[in-house]
Amino acid sequence: MNRPYIICHMVTSLDGKVTGDFLFTPECEGATEIYYDINRKLKCNGFICGRVTMEGSFTQGYYPDLSNYEPVRHGIGHKMDFMLDSEDMTGFYAVAFDPKGKLGWKSNKIIDPDEDPGYDGAQIVEVLTEQVDERYLGYLESLDIPYIFAGETEIDVDFALFKLKNMIGCETLLLEGGSIINGSFQRADVIDELSLVVAPTVADKDDKPLFMDSTISNYELTDAQPINGNLVLNYKRNNNSVK
Ligand SMILES: NC(=O)c1ccc[n+]([C@@H]2O[C@H](COP(=O)([O-])OP(=O)(O)OC[C@H]3O[C@@H](n4cnc5c(N)ncnc54)[C@H](OP(=O)(O)O)[C@@H]3O)[C@@H](O)[C@H]2O)c1
Repeated sequence: MNRPYIICHMVTSLDGKVTGDFLFTPECEGATEIYYDINRKLKCNGFICGRVTMEGSFTQGYYPDLSNYEPVRHGIGHKMDFMLDSEDMTGFYAVAFDPKGKLGWKSNKIIDPDEDPGYDGAQIVEVLTEQVDERYLGYLESLDIPYIFAGETEIDVDFALFKLKNMIGCETLLLEGGSIINGSFQRADVIDELSLVVAPTVADKDDKPLFMDSTISNYELTDAQPINGNLVLNYKRNNNSVK
């Protein structure tokens, strides 16, 4: 396979939603603990999240003043990826799908020591499109944050995964939401495994589903365990359709 093995790991409500206030209710606390426990045990090369999830979980809306950074000029159609020397790559990555370069990081690693959910120390990798402000590239380089280009305006999921495997060496990655990025992976047909923790609660009508704008696809149930009122489910994709 010329891409990493992808495990989509998520907490869902009974009605298959993954965003919104239900995640922060007492009824969802147990599911969240189980989710982090599984996250730590899966031992992947890192995790991929959409820009909105990265912002909510790690950057909290910070954004640098780009006027302080020199543009990195690549020329149209000649965008160059930025990598660190291999000895400076950690083997454990927080991959941000951030097409326009909206995330404001303060260092090149996730700093999350208190919560202990298994993300601390992950090395940030930005996946960008050609829409990005060239000064944002200067900012990323000033922090030693590797970046890769995958697409002109939308991120080409296949191309991004190809680069994550062949340039960074990711063999297995978690896809950890939210709904929009999960949907783009589902439509690209690149989710090999689903790891779901179903909380015993129903979400609000406006909350988003596991896969936004999904298409039909099939998975095989490989494990189901009730744990303290939650349901932990594992599915694998049908092998005959593996890309
Ligand atoms: N239940 C769970 O286990 C779980 C896990 C993680 C997150 N969440 C929840 O999910 C919520 C966020 O979900 P969300 O669906 O609103 O957003 P999201 O998927 O986290 O991020 C969506 C954004 O990421 C960028 N993006 C992702 N895939 C892309 C692609 N293929 N091509 C181009 N751009 C792409 C775009 O950024 P731009 O907007 O910059 O173009 C897009 O708007 C959070 O509030 C969090 O609470 C839940």
